[in-house]
Amino acid sequence: MKHGGRRTSRLVIRPLERGDYSAWKTAWSTMLPAQNAWDRSNRTAEALTRAAFSQVLKSSRTLRFEDRFYDFGVFLASTGELIGMVSAMDVLRGLSQSAYLGYSLFNRHWGQGYGKEAVRAMIDIAFRDLNLHRLEAGIEPRNRRSILLARSLKLRKEGLKRRAVFLKGRWVDLVMYSITSEELGIEWKGKAQTRPR
Ligand SMILES: CC(C)(COP(=O)(O)OP(=O)(O)OC[C@H]1O[C@@H](n2cnc3c(N)ncnc32)[C@H](O)[C@@H]1OP(=O)(O)O)[C@@H](O)C(=O)NCCC(=O)NCCS
Repeated sequence: MKHGGRRTSRLVIRPLERGDYSAWKTAWSTMLPAQNAWDRSNRTAEALTRAAFSQVLKSSRTLRFEDRFYDFGVFLASTGELIGMVSAMDVLRGLSQSAYLGYSLFNRHWGQGYGKEAVRAMIDIAFRDLNLHRLEAGIEPRNRRSILLARSLKLRKEGLKRRAVFLKGRWVDLVMYSITSEELGIEWKGKAQTRPR
Protein backbone atom coordinates (compact mmCIF):
# COMPACT_ATOMS: atom_id res chain seq x y z
CA MET A 1 0.00 0.00 0.00
CA LYS A 2 1.42 3.38 -1.02
CA HIS A 3 1.37 5.84 1.89
CA GLY A 4 4.28 8.17 1.46
CA GLY A 5 2.63 11.23 3.01
CA ARG A 6 2.01 14.77 1.83
CA ARG A 7 3.63 18.21 1.63
CA THR A 8 1.07 20.97 2.24
CA SER A 9 1.72 24.72 2.20
CA ARG A 10 3.22 24.72 5.73
CA LEU A 11 3.49 21.08 6.74
CA VAL A 12 5.08 17.74 5.93
CA ILE A 13 2.92 14.72 6.84
CA ARG A 14 4.81 11.42 6.87
CA PRO A 15 5.42 8.31 8.99
CA LEU A 16 7.95 8.78 11.80
CA GLU A 17 11.44 7.50 11.03
CA ARG A 18 14.49 6.55 13.08
CA GLY A 19 16.06 10.00 12.53
CA ASP A 20 13.05 11.72 14.17
CA TYR A 21 14.06 10.74 17.70
CA SER A 22 15.19 14.16 18.83
CA ALA A 23 12.18 15.94 17.24
CA TRP A 24 9.88 13.42 18.97
CA LYS A 25 11.60 13.80 22.32
CA THR A 26 11.52 17.61 22.11
CA ALA A 27 7.81 17.63 21.19
CA TRP A 28 6.88 15.43 24.17
CA SER A 29 8.95 17.32 26.67
CA THR A 30 8.16 20.94 25.81
CA MET A 31 4.41 21.06 26.13
CA LEU A 32 2.53 23.82 27.90
CA PRO A 33 0.27 22.71 30.77
CA ALA A 34 -2.74 20.75 29.48
CA GLN A 35 -5.15 23.11 27.75
CA ASN A 36 -8.26 20.96 28.02
CA ALA A 37 -9.43 17.48 29.02
CA TRP A 38 -8.38 15.96 25.68
CA ASP A 39 -4.88 17.38 25.66
CA ARG A 40 -1.84 15.25 26.38
CA SER A 41 0.70 15.93 29.08
CA ASN A 42 4.49 15.85 29.08
CA ARG A 43 6.01 12.38 29.18
CA THR A 44 8.57 11.47 31.80
CA ALA A 45 12.23 11.03 30.83
CA GLU A 46 11.89 7.21 31.11
CA ALA A 47 9.13 7.24 28.50
CA LEU A 48 11.30 9.27 26.12
CA THR A 49 14.35 7.06 25.71
CA ARG A 50 15.66 5.94 22.35
CA ALA A 51 14.42 2.43 23.19
CA ALA A 52 10.90 3.75 23.81
CA PHE A 53 10.99 5.54 20.46
CA SER A 54 12.14 2.35 18.69
CA GLN A 55 9.13 0.59 20.21
CA VAL A 56 6.84 3.34 18.86
CA LEU A 57 8.33 2.92 15.38
CA LYS A 58 8.11 -0.85 15.53
CA SER A 59 4.47 -0.99 16.55
CA SER A 60 3.54 1.71 14.04
CA ARG A 61 5.28 -0.22 11.22
CA THR A 62 3.58 -3.49 12.18
CA LEU A 63 0.13 -1.94 12.26
CA ARG A 64 0.73 -0.25 8.90
CA PHE A 65 2.04 -3.45 7.37
CA GLU A 66 -1.03 -5.29 8.61
CA ASP A 67 -3.30 -2.58 7.12
CA ARG A 68 -4.83 -1.89 10.53
CA PHE A 69 -3.72 1.58 11.61
CA TYR A 70 -1.77 4.31 9.82
CA ASP A 71 -0.19 7.12 11.77
CA PHE A 72 1.75 10.08 10.45
CA GLY A 73 3.89 12.70 12.07
CA VAL A 74 2.98 16.33 11.35
CA PHE A 75 6.13 18.40 10.84
CA LEU A 76 6.59 22.11 10.22
CA ALA A 77 8.10 22.35 6.74
CA SER A 78 10.12 25.44 7.75
CA THR A 79 11.91 24.00 10.79
CA GLY A 80 11.33 20.24 10.77
CA GLU A 81 9.70 20.51 14.21
CA LEU A 82 7.25 17.70 15.08
CA ILE A 83 3.95 19.40 15.97
CA GLY A 84 1.48 16.50 16.13
CA MET A 85 0.15 13.26 14.74
CA VAL A 86 -2.71 12.36 12.40
CA SER A 87 -4.00 8.88 11.72
CA ALA A 88 -6.43 6.50 10.08
CA MET A 89 -7.30 4.12 12.91
CA ASP A 90 -9.03 0.74 13.09
CA VAL A 91 -9.18 0.17 9.33
CA LEU A 92 -12.16 -1.95 8.30
CA ARG A 93 -11.91 -3.46 4.83
CA GLY A 94 -14.59 -5.93 3.64
CA LEU A 95 -17.84 -4.16 2.88
CA SER A 96 -17.03 -0.99 4.86
CA GLN A 97 -13.64 0.24 3.60
CA SER A 98 -13.61 2.72 6.48
CA ALA A 99 -11.45 4.00 9.31
CA TYR A 100 -11.62 6.42 12.23
CA LEU A 101 -9.77 9.70 11.90
CA GLY A 102 -7.34 10.50 14.69
CA TYR A 103 -5.67 13.86 15.24
CA SER A 104 -3.84 15.66 17.95
CA LEU A 105 -1.34 18.50 18.01
CA PHE A 106 1.18 19.41 20.68
CA ASN A 107 -0.53 22.31 22.41
CA ARG A 108 2.02 25.04 21.64
CA HIS A 109 0.78 24.81 18.06
CA TRP A 110 -3.00 25.00 18.54
CA GLY A 111 -5.14 27.72 16.99
CA GLN A 112 -3.01 28.42 13.91
CA GLY A 113 -4.88 26.31 11.38
CA TYR A 114 -2.31 23.49 11.50
CA GLY A 115 -4.90 20.96 12.70
CA LYS A 116 -7.13 21.71 9.75
CA GLU A 117 -4.23 21.59 7.29
CA ALA A 118 -2.95 18.27 8.66
CA VAL A 119 -6.32 16.52 8.89
CA ARG A 120 -7.21 17.65 5.37
CA ALA A 121 -3.98 15.99 4.16
CA MET A 122 -4.76 12.86 6.21
CA ILE A 123 -8.18 12.62 4.56
CA ASP A 124 -6.55 12.90 1.13
CA ILE A 125 -4.01 10.18 1.99
CA ALA A 126 -6.78 7.93 3.31
CA PHE A 127 -8.94 8.25 0.21
CA ARG A 128 -6.28 8.39 -2.49
CA ASP A 129 -3.42 6.27 -1.14
CA LEU A 130 -5.08 3.91 1.33
CA ASN A 131 -8.10 3.52 -0.87
CA LEU A 132 -10.60 3.96 1.94
CA HIS A 133 -14.13 5.11 1.20
CA ARG A 134 -15.43 6.42 4.55
CA LEU A 135 -13.76 8.25 7.42
CA GLU A 136 -15.40 8.85 10.77
CA ALA A 137 -14.37 11.07 13.65
CA GLY A 138 -15.84 10.12 17.01
CA ILE A 139 -15.70 13.19 19.26
CA GLU A 140 -16.70 13.68 22.87
CA PRO A 141 -19.59 16.16 22.85
CA ARG A 142 -17.72 18.70 25.01
CA ASN A 143 -14.55 18.68 22.89
CA ARG A 144 -15.37 21.97 21.22
CA ARG A 145 -12.05 22.45 19.42
CA SER A 146 -12.31 19.06 17.79
CA ILE A 147 -15.93 19.65 16.78
CA LEU A 148 -14.96 23.02 15.25
CA LEU A 149 -12.19 21.30 13.32
CA ALA A 150 -14.54 18.58 12.01
CA ARG A 151 -17.10 21.18 10.97
CA SER A 152 -14.49 23.37 9.33
CA LEU A 153 -13.49 20.40 7.14
CA LYS A 154 -17.16 19.86 6.17
CA LEU A 155 -17.46 16.54 7.94
CA ARG A 156 -21.14 15.64 8.33
CA LYS A 157 -22.65 15.18 11.78
CA GLU A 158 -24.28 11.76 11.88
CA GLY A 159 -25.48 11.50 15.44
CA LEU A 160 -24.60 10.32 18.91
CA LYS A 161 -23.02 6.92 19.37
CA ARG A 162 -23.90 5.97 22.92
CA ARG A 163 -21.36 4.45 25.30
CA ALA A 164 -19.01 4.05 22.35
CA VAL A 165 -15.56 3.90 23.97
CA PHE A 166 -14.10 3.08 27.37
CA LEU A 167 -12.02 6.10 28.48
CA LYS A 168 -10.52 6.81 31.87
CA GLY A 169 -12.67 4.19 33.57
CA ARG A 170 -16.06 4.87 32.02
CA TRP A 171 -18.08 4.38 28.85
CA VAL A 172 -18.26 7.61 26.90
CA ASP A 173 -20.72 8.81 24.22
CA LEU A 174 -19.24 10.13 20.98
CA VAL A 175 -20.69 12.51 18.41
CA MET A 176 -19.94 11.00 15.03
CA TYR A 177 -18.81 13.11 12.09
CA SER A 178 -18.02 11.53 8.75
CA ILE A 179 -17.05 12.06 5.15
CA THR A 180 -16.92 9.73 2.13
CA SER A 181 -14.60 9.91 -0.84
CA GLU A 182 -17.22 10.95 -3.39
CA GLU A 183 -18.00 14.04 -1.32
CA LEU A 184 -14.51 15.22 -2.23
CA GLY A 185 -14.84 14.12 -5.86
CA ILE A 186 -12.48 11.17 -5.31
CA GLU A 187 -13.54 7.96 -6.96
CA TRP A 188 -13.16 4.87 -4.77
CA LYS A 189 -11.07 2.47 -6.82
CA GLY A 190 -11.03 -0.58 -4.58
CA LYS A 191 -12.98 -3.74 -4.63
CA ALA A 192 -15.09 -4.62 -1.61
CA GLN A 193 -14.24 -8.07 -0.31
CA THR A 194 -17.40 -10.06 0.04
CA ARG A 195 -17.36 -13.41 1.80
CA PRO A 196 -17.91 -16.47 -0.38
CA ARG A 197 -21.49 -17.72 -0.01
C1 LIG B 1 -8.41 19.39 17.97
C2 LIG B 1 -7.05 20.02 17.56
C3 LIG B 1 -6.29 19.02 16.68
C4 LIG B 1 -7.33 21.31 16.78
O1 LIG B 1 -6.12 21.76 16.21
P1 LIG B 1 -5.87 23.31 15.86
O2 LIG B 1 -4.65 23.40 15.03
O3 LIG B 1 -5.94 24.10 17.10
O4 LIG B 1 -7.15 23.63 14.94
P2 LIG B 1 -7.18 24.74 13.80
O5 LIG B 1 -6.40 25.94 14.23
O6 LIG B 1 -6.83 24.11 12.50
O7 LIG B 1 -8.71 25.13 13.83
C5 LIG B 1 -9.72 24.34 13.20
C6 LIG B 1 -11.01 25.10 13.12
O8 LIG B 1 -11.56 25.31 14.42
C7 LIG B 1 -11.64 26.71 14.72
N1 LIG B 1 -11.22 26.89 16.11
C8 LIG B 1 -10.27 26.20 16.74
N2 LIG B 1 -10.20 26.61 18.02
C9 LIG B 1 -11.13 27.55 18.19
C10 LIG B 1 -11.55 28.33 19.29
N3 LIG B 1 -11.00 28.19 20.51
N4 LIG B 1 -12.54 29.20 19.10
C11 LIG B 1 -13.10 29.32 17.91
N5 LIG B 1 -12.75 28.63 16.81
C12 LIG B 1 -11.78 27.74 16.97
C13 LIG B 1 -10.70 27.38 13.77
O9 LIG B 1 -11.08 28.70 13.50
C14 LIG B 1 -10.83 26.49 12.53
O10 LIG B 1 -12.00 26.76 11.77
P3 LIG B 1 -11.96 27.70 10.45
O11 LIG B 1 -10.92 27.15 9.54
O12 LIG B 1 -13.34 27.56 9.95
O13 LIG B 1 -11.56 29.05 10.97
C15 LIG B 1 -6.20 20.37 18.81
O14 LIG B 1 -6.92 21.27 19.61
C16 LIG B 1 -5.81 19.15 19.67
O15 LIG B 1 -4.78 18.52 19.42
N6 LIG B 1 -6.63 18.83 20.72
C17 LIG B 1 -6.31 17.72 21.64
C18 LIG B 1 -6.52 16.36 21.02
C19 LIG B 1 -7.93 16.15 20.53
O16 LIG B 1 -8.89 16.65 21.09
N7 LIG B 1 -8.06 15.39 19.43
C20 LIG B 1 -9.34 15.06 18.83
C21 LIG B 1 -9.96 13.93 19.52
S1 LIG B 1 -11.55 13.55 18.79
